[in-house]
Amino acid sequence: MNIPELQKKILELKKEKDICILAHSYQSRDIVEVADFVGDSFQLSVKATTVPQKTVIMCGVRFMAETVKILSPEKKVIIPSPDAGCPMAEQMDVDYIESEKEKYPDATVVAYINTTAALKTICDVCVTSASAVKIVEALPNKDILFIPDCNLGSYVAQQVPDKNIILLQGGCPIHGTITAAEALRAKEAHPNAKLLVHPECKPEVQELADFIGSTSAIMSYAENSEENEFIIGTEISIAEHLSYSCPDKIFYPMTKSLICADMKLTTLPDLYRSMTGESGMEVIMDDDTITKAKACIDKMIDLG
Ligand code: 13P
Ligand code: SF4
Repeated sequence: MNIPELQKKILELKKEKDICILAHSYQSRDIVEVADFVGDSFQLSVKATTVPQKTVIMCGVRFMAETVKILSPEKKVIIPSPDAGCPMAEQMDVDYIESEKEKYPDATVVAYINTTAALKTICDVCVTSASAVKIVEALPNKDILFIPDCNLGSYVAQQVPDKNIILLQGGCPIHGTITAAEALRAKEAHPNAKLLVHPECKPEVQELADFIGSTSAIMSYAENSEENEFIIGTEISIAEHLSYSCPDKIFYPMTKSLICADMKLTTLPDLYRSMTGESGMEVIMDDDTITKAKACIDKMIDLG
């Protein structure tokens, strides 16, 4: 079966089985085209709470499917490729963070949404890359233990200098390995382009940027800008999706190595097979985890 034929079957099956398909914006074009909603992980999990369908398929990585389940525990949430994890979300476990909390007993523990559900159960409040600055600003406590991404954490520390932000050594192995030299090379190659980077990039890369923002913020900045050329300093699929939504503008990936292998584990056939029940995995979570992890996310919603 070719791609359009498979997409047609997916659209038919979606109607027949009354399934909602969510796709993170790092998913490939063929998946994005059949999704009901495309966006960042938090936007999608909130969207899932409003849809009538009782079954939701989350094309993305495990923490994203978990977040959908936490906010919609009554729904059946399926991840088409259960092996798709986010290395950043899974690099710190509960025992490690419990021991760090003992070192900083007065700190508020702020967890980036890119964390496991288990880790969220022992943190005070979640943030997304789009909301981190606003949430940290709104917290009454001066001492903040920010996990797991030290690059996003140092971006927040710079924007909110009156807080004492404690960082641990963690981060995204895709964004975090891009060097300032690579960013400079991209700028030299495209001198008329604006450099837009994700706050998961290193501080020295962020310093070279014209704009720093979450995946969705980068997309809307580029879509609404008067400028015509952009170097995209986040996962490579964002440059591709922008080329479709803004055909008159030019988008260059900052480097061709900005590919999240876990995000690309989900293929169109995987999505199809997860709809027929041949593969994929339902997210199962106990009530206690859901309640505690939800409290961490709800606090973000309250403060945001
Ligand atoms: P956004 O929340 O900006 O979509 O980021 C998700 C992610 O995994 C970034 O690498
Ligand atoms: Fe995780 Fe980085 Fe992939 Fe985003 S790009 S899902 S943070 S590994």
